[in-house]
This record gives sequence, C-alpha cells and structure tokens, in this order.
Amino acid sequence: MGLQRVNQFLAWASLSLLVSAQCPLYQNYANKRHEPLSSGRYNLSYARPVPDCRTFHSPELEDTLKRLKDVITDPDLYRLFENTWPSTLDTTIAWRGYAAPPSLPEEVEGAEGGEGVTKRDAEEKEELSFIITGDIEAMWLRDSANQLQAYTSILKPSTDFSSLASVFRGAINLQARYILEAPFCNAFQAPVESNITRKSSENSDRISPSFDFMKVFSCQWELDSVASFLQLSDDYVTATGDYEFFSKWKWKEAVKKVLETAESMMIDSYNEAGEWQHTPYTYCAPYGGTPINDCNGSPHRNIGLIRSFHRPSDDACTYQFLIPSNMMFSHALNTTAKIMSRIEGPDNANLTNWMRTLSTGIRTAIHRHARVADRTYGTIFAYEIDGYGSANIMDDPNIPSLLSAPFIGYLDSDDPVYQNTRRKILSKDNPYFSWGPVITGVGSPHTLPGRAWPMASIMRILTSDDDEEITETLRQLVGSTDGLGLMHESVSSHSESQWSRQW
Ligand SMILES: *[C@@H]1O[C@H](CO)[C@@H](O)[C@H](O)[C@H]1NC(C)=O
Ligand SMILES: *[C@@H]1O[C@H](CO)[C@@H](O)[C@H](O)[C@H]1NC(C)=O
Ligand SMILES: *[C@@H]1O[C@H](CO)[C@@H](O)[C@H](O)[C@H]1NC(C)=O
Ligand SMILES: *[C@@H]1O[C@H](CO)[C@@H](O)[C@H](O)[C@H]1NC(C)=O
Repeated sequence: MGLQRVNQFLAWASLSLLVSAQCPLYQNYANKRHEPLSSGRYNLSYARPVPDCRTFHSPELEDTLKRLKDVITDPDLYRLFENTWPSTLDTTIAWRGYAAPPSLPEEVEGAEGGEGVTKRDAEEKEELSFIITGDIEAMWLRDSANQLQAYTSILKPSTDFSSLASVFRGAINLQARYILEAPFCNAFQAPVESNITRKSSENSDRISPSFDFMKVFSCQWELDSVASFLQLSDDYVTATGDYEFFSKWKWKEAVKKVLETAESMMIDSYNEAGEWQHTPYTYCAPYGGTPINDCNGSPHRNIGLIRSFHRPSDDACTYQFLIPSNMMFSHALNTTAKIMSRIEGPDNANLTNWMRTLSTGIRTAIHRHARVADRTYGTIFAYEIDGYGSANIMDDPNIPSLLSAPFIGYLDSDDPVYQNTRRKILSKDNPYFSWGPVITGVGSPHTLPGRAWPMASIMRILTSDDDEEITETLRQLVGSTDGLGLMHESVSSHSESQWSRQW
C-alpha cells in the first residue's frame, strides 16, 4: 500500500462506508460528500474512488491532472475537473479482455472470416472493452464513444494491452460485434467472454425486427448510435495513425451493415403506386413512444435523409428526420471513408465510394430541406423535419444537438445559419430553454422543462469565443453541483438540490 493509498483508505474507512477493502457501488459513493473538500467557496467533494476501486489506470491521465493543478487556479473549478475528467476510466470500464476464439458458437455467427481479415499475426487476439454508461450495466454505442472521446488528447499509439489505445480498440471491436448482432439497437449487454451475469431485457415495448434480449439491453433506433461507432473509429485513427487495426477484425463488415441499415431507413412512406410502406424498423412503447400508424410514426417523404426513431436522449422523435444526427452521420461517414480507402480488400473501393456518396447526399438534403425561415432570427436549422414541410423548432441538450454542430465537425462555428440557430436556441424563443438563478441553459423533455442540462452549457462554452459568455457559463457549472463536485444530467434552474443523476 502506498502512502496515498493508506490516506485514502483511512478517509474512506472513517466515513464508515465499508468495513473491508470492497468497493462500494459508485452511484452510492457519489451521492455523498467526501473529504478533502475543495478550498474555494463551494466546498466541493472529492469524488474519485480510491485507487484500488478504479476501473482503469492511466499514467498519462494522472500526469495531466498534476500538470493542470497549477494551470486551473480556481480550486473549485480544478476539483470539478479532477473529479469528472477521469470518471470514465475510474468508474465505467466494467471489463476488458479478448474475444473467444472463433471456434466458439458465439463468434462463428458474427461476420468473422469475411474478406479483408488478413492483416493480423496468427497469435494476435481481438481486444474487447465493455464500457458501461455509468449507473446502468450496459454499453450504449453513443455513450461509450463519447465517454472515450474525452481522452483523445492523451491517446498515443501502443500495442500494449495496458494502454489507453487498447481500451479504444476493444471498444471499437465490441461495437462492431454489437452492430453486426443487432444494427437497429442502441445499448447492449456484457460480452459472453466477461462472465458478467446477463438478465433478459424483455419488457412491454413492441419492436421489430426481433433481437436477443440476452445480448441487447435496449433497442431504440438512433442514427447517432451508428454514427458514434464511426466517430470513435476516427478518434482512434486520428490520434494513433493506426490504420492497419481496421483491417484485422470485423470493422469493415460492421461499416457495411451500418450503410445497409441507414439506407433502409430512408424509405418513403408511400411507394409509386400509393401503397403505404412499413419502415424496416418499428417501435411501440406504452409510454413516450410513437405508436401511431402501427408503430411506424407519422408519414415521411424520402428526401435523402435517414430516419431516426429516437433522439440521443432515447426519447421518441416528433419527426424522424433528426437533423443533428444526420449532420453527425454525414460528417462521420466522410472522415471514416478515409480509413476504408486505406485498407485493402476486394470491395473496399465500392464501400469507400458508398460512404462518400451517402455523406454528400445527406449534406445536400440538409441544405435543401432543413433550413427554415424564422421571423426573428433569419434562416435557422430545424431540429426535426418530415419531408412534407413540417418542422420541429427546438434543441435537445444531448449530443449530437444543433448547438453541437461545429463540435461534431459538420460546420464552422461562424456559419451564419448556425449562428442564427445558436442565438435562438440560447434564448427564451427555444421551447426547451430553462432559466433561473441557479443555472440557465438548454433543457429537455427527457427530464421535463425547467431543468438545464450541464452538458449543453459545456457545449455552449465549446462553441463560443466570447470570454464573458464562457466565464459566466463556467461559473454556473461550478456553482450548481449541490456540493458533490460532479456534473449532473440536469439541474433545476431554481434549486441546486433538484437534479437528476449525480454524474
Ligand atoms: C464552506 O465551508 C466554509 C467553512 O466551513 C463555510 O463557512 C461555508 O459556508 C461553506 N460553503 C458552502 C457553500 O457550503
Ligand atoms: C469465465 O468462465 C470460464 C469457465 O468457467 C473460465 O474458463 C474463464 O476464465 C472465465 N473468464 C473470466 C474473464 O473470468
Ligand atoms: C456497391 O455495392 C453495393 C452492394 O453490394 C451495390 O448495390 C452498389 O451498386 C455498389 N456501388 C458501387 C459504386 O459500385
Ligand atoms: C468530406 O471531406 C473533404 C475533405 O475534408 C471535404 O472537402 C468535403 O467537403 C467533405 N464532404 C462532405 C459531404 O462533408
């Protein structure tokens, strides 16, 4: 036991949270304040688990934390950073290991053995990382990609299993497996190799096509889920330059599945003869769903965009051409087409071309159909449209959002239509804007109106170069954690103690 570990252990034991070295559930731990509190005016809790209870150790992360202590001089702000930045590595890497050899039945039914799987050594093993969303033991495609994105600044090439690069590769491999298993689904159970106990996820939702409830955790068709797989791939290759990895396992097959699935969801609600056509995916839920028209949702015209039944919050869309998700998908297809073009294989030229063509088609359709006139703000982007002229004007805080369009790489933040949209989103003219003395920002039907999401305030900072806007938004973030020193999902604009999810 190192000295730091002993001190931590004493602090831990004195809180009588546990009597042994067993690790408490982080959601219980993070619900209470822990010493030493930060020395600023907000007395923020130290919320990192003791080192033995952390789920991954990164020397680069610890070095960066130490280095930034002298840079971020506000003690409360530093505490917030110190608690939140390591959080994914500290608390959500539920399991890492290797895929079972292909002779096992689980593996054989995947796309193993497709052409292009040639570039690995005989003894090389497929890494897997099961990264849970936090308080739920399941891996969301979007969440795990976004959780890892926080570490691209310290991601370096490495073949070592103990490296952050291995965590990324394992997540890409597992996401590819999930997509090949159930391409319409958004969250998945632990891989069989982990021996983590899985329970059936069956509930009263009616979803087609059917899927295995022991493998899938939830099956909402969210376009940004498959876009996240591409984004994660791009994040990895941009930081490491390791193109070769993508030819080793099932990446290419998964991309092909993404293309087929996405294109199938461009379907027009009527064929040429006027007959109504079902979408390949349908969803009915007893609550918050879109059960109209036999679980298809309202009619949509094929205008070159891809339908998404759900938003990144997992809420049902009002109209299914969800613009931020189409923006993200278009951009991610374009960046990862470069990976496809650099790996060898008989149909790679076709796939590269397909990715670029779809990317361009979506961009053209957004330009044509998703820009609408607003009386006060000029031309703005709609949040959702249906191809018949209906538009839902709002923004939702979860990413991808309209506010995040420059962050996801779709456009430059000085784009005039983006700037008009941003002004409207960050005003009382956005139906989900939430304002008050505690925190002012974008809220969501997911947590009911009147609560701002810190995530959207962070996005506000990341898309601004106005110092005043940045400092004021930061001040609100630091001052609205209820002393816990963590970023909640949402916080009431009127009461710091009313929040959802402690981290
Ligand atoms: C922080 O702690 C100091 C000293 O114990 C106390 O005076 C102050 O009221 C506390 N502030 C908050 C926001 O809890
Ligand atoms: C899972 O269980 C199998 C069979 O009991 C065992 O061989 C394997 O080592 C276990 N794997 C893990 C990761 O615990
Ligand atoms: C690529 O392949 C798909 C499916 O195999 C096919 O439908 C398409 O025509 C091909 N596209 C090009 C550009 O070769
Ligand atoms: C794809 O990326 C290239 C190179 O950055 C860029 O020139 C092109 O406009 C992009 N296309 C789309 C549809 O985003």
